[in-house]
Amino acid sequence: MRLLVTGGMGFIGSNFVRLVLRERPSWTVINLDLLTYAGNPANLADVEREPRYSFVRGDIANAADVRRALVAGCDAIVNFAAETHVDRSIESSEIFLRTNVVGTTTLVEAARALGRCRVVHVSTDEVYGALGPDDPPFTETSRFAPTSPYAATKGAADLLALAYARTFGTDVVVTRCSNNYGPYQFPEKLVPLMITNAIEGKRLPVYGDGLQVRDWIHVEDHCTGLLAALEHGRAGQEYNFGARAERINLDVVRRIVGLIGASPDLVAHVADRPAHDRRYAVLPDKAERELGWRPRRSFDEGLAETVRWYVGNERWWRPVKDGSYRDFYRRWYEERTA
Ligand code: NAD
Ligand code: TYD
Repeated sequence: MRLLVTGGMGFIGSNFVRLVLRERPSWTVINLDLLTYAGNPANLADVEREPRYSFVRGDIANAADVRRALVAGCDAIVNFAAETHVDRSIESSEIFLRTNVVGTTTLVEAARALGRCRVVHVSTDEVYGALGPDDPPFTETSRFAPTSPYAATKGAADLLALAYARTFGTDVVVTRCSNNYGPYQFPEKLVPLMITNAIEGKRLPVYGDGLQVRDWIHVEDHCTGLLAALEHGRAGQEYNFGARAERINLDVVRRIVGLIGASPDLVAHVADRPAHDRRYAVLPDKAERELGWRPRRSFDEGLAETVRWYVGNERWWRPVKDGSYRDFYRRWYEERTA
């Protein structure tokens, strides 16, 4: 199996690359990543000398870059590359449109041209929009109702990928996962921001009343689901992934405060996000039934483990938070392209 992973220098992509290299010893992995602010070579420093792994810097929205990454052929593509932060998409949405929509279309078009190449497109539960407190969780047939520019561009990408399956018979599988947490997550997202701020004794900014609900899954459980979707998913089908772990934001933050032993006074309610989705939750029944997949970690176990990882890996997150990781990766990249 020759696999192209896009966005493999980011949070979930890097965890997936590591999983595949460990669990599938005959597979080779090419990682196509633009190295935006969210792509950090330190995320895969431990595998960069592995002969079955190679890195190509490039943009999924640029057909020539995609062709370059596919030059030696490819059996499957797993597309993680995206702009991913809701707050950034509210600041400015243009790059979200380019990467998430044009980029995904460029990739599925390349797969169509290649023929016999499966695409697993990593979508999100945010395409379904928000649930009310008593609504049942989303299923794969729930209506799309994205609210943020991030979710709207992911919705468009998701539909385009499926349109290629229907129109051209391209072998596409779409996955929609709930909120991930775990090692190597960029500290702009709730869990790593709160853990690292709590360690630093900084304010913990909770948006609005903090009573919004997210459905949490450990990144490694998401990654085993993606591997199962790649190997066993039916072409043209969508699969929701989640771990049935709905939690109120404020409870997650308080639990992190407790695990770190920080002061509860650090918790500060700040202005709410515009159109902040009140609740997300997905039913993973179809993935469990058809892919033989199960999430393994409970939220309490996974969160405690994740807190320990950030406590033990300050060398990873301090340069990310102070911005110096960009100098590291500029040097890293120059050394490899000189
Ligand atoms: P991330 O922001 O940590 O990483 C994104 C990666 O994509 C980075 O390495 C970045 O350099 C790369 N990238 C960005 N634009 C690119 C481009 N034009 N060409 C090539 N590479 C580019 O993201 P993440 O949290 O790991 O999410 C990965 C995927 O999973 C995304 O598609 C996201 O929508 C989806 N997803 C994320 C979550 C979550 O909770 N994080 C949940 C469900 C789905
Ligand atoms: P986030 O990690 O940005 O993921 P998403 O918006 O894709 O669900 O945010 C998770 C939840 O935490 C969301 O309800 C917004 C909230 N949040 C805060 O309250 N404070 C913060 O500083 C951040 C980043 C998020």
